[in-house]
Amino acid sequence: MKVLGIETSCDETGVAVYDGDRGLLAHDLYSQVDLHRVHGGVVPELASRDHVRRLAPLVRDCLAVAGVERADGVAFTTGPGLAGALLVGAAFGRALAYAWGVPAIGIHHMEGHLLAPLLEAEAPEFPFVALLVSGGHTMLVRVEGVGEYHLLGQSLDDAAGEAFDKTAKLLGLPYPGGPELARLAESGRPGRFEFPRPMTERPGLDFSFSGLKPAALRAMAGVSGGQARADLARAFEDAVVDTLAIKCARALEQEQVCALVVAGGVGANRRLRARLIETAAEHGARVHYPRPEFCTDNGAMIAYAGYVRLVAGTGDDLRFGARPRWPMDTLEPPARAA
Ligand code: KG4
Ligand code: ZN
Repeated sequence: MKVLGIETSCDETGVAVYDGDRGLLAHDLYSQVDLHRVHGGVVPELASRDHVRRLAPLVRDCLAVAGVERADGVAFTTGPGLAGALLVGAAFGRALAYAWGVPAIGIHHMEGHLLAPLLEAEAPEFPFVALLVSGGHTMLVRVEGVGEYHLLGQSLDDAAGEAFDKTAKLLGLPYPGGPELARLAESGRPGRFEFPRPMTERPGLDFSFSGLKPAALRAMAGVSGGQARADLARAFEDAVVDTLAIKCARALEQEQVCALVVAGGVGANRRLRARLIETAAEHGARVHYPRPEFCTDNGAMIAYAGYVRLVAGTGDDLRFGARPRWPMDTLEPPARAA
């Protein structure tokens, strides 16, 4: 079975074709980063309009690269995300499925991220603990199987990626801030600035990252120069990485699983990746990442999640629409969702 996946929840138009026998046949991405950079962040209306412009040619090219004229199913991101942007992918995906006479299925964006490491050669086995760290979410989830997600903890305020982006803005870095800040931190020296490790002192697996931006603002007062900015970026990154690692260690201890899955845009962070390999090893577990390009938003993860759900029997209920807010723990396993 071949499934076409469509991702348009934010500022990337992602498409892919996943085949049950041969794996990923093709994937393509158009990033709107240049479009939004001048505005310092994503402008929802511009995002929707650009998805409208890019999606059809991208799908056409992707099918050509995959060497197929049509798929046996279409998966599109239903939410969470920007309403208008989501609607573009949903309307397109639903219409194409009608035209092809195949089932269509709406996918939860974070389930896409969560299952992305299963696209890699050495896929994790269930059950595992997943750290989902993106621009909109930071959560720890126990995963028993597809659609069986038990929330262990989550951010009570800002997501880790959001904290990266806000602090990057303070440092005068262009959008998107996370990778820019990480780049600046490369030349930073550790230890010059001290940031808090929020909520690590108390028990539990929740996070809070909203205090890091004011901490950066205070640290910035009275310092200037390129090296100081780099040192500050390094201190900020170390604080986020430390905090995430402490909570992952706690989750592995509590849940007694052999695998830690890390997904979402912040999962592309090199220092975080290295640190979590150590953390998992200390707990007799292995860490699984998607390849960096599938950490951030992409169509492959949606095609794969759609494939998994369609072969497991989730039927097409002919619904389409956007769910800008959609709690992940309301998802159900594929058969029951049918
Ligand atoms: O998963 P994603 O592409 O989109 C959402 O679903 O939010 O994640 C985007 C987030 C942004 O906040 C971005 O700054 C952050 O991931 N990010 C990074 C890195 N690459 C992307 N943060 C830190 N270091 C990186 N290398
Ligand atoms: Zn995402």
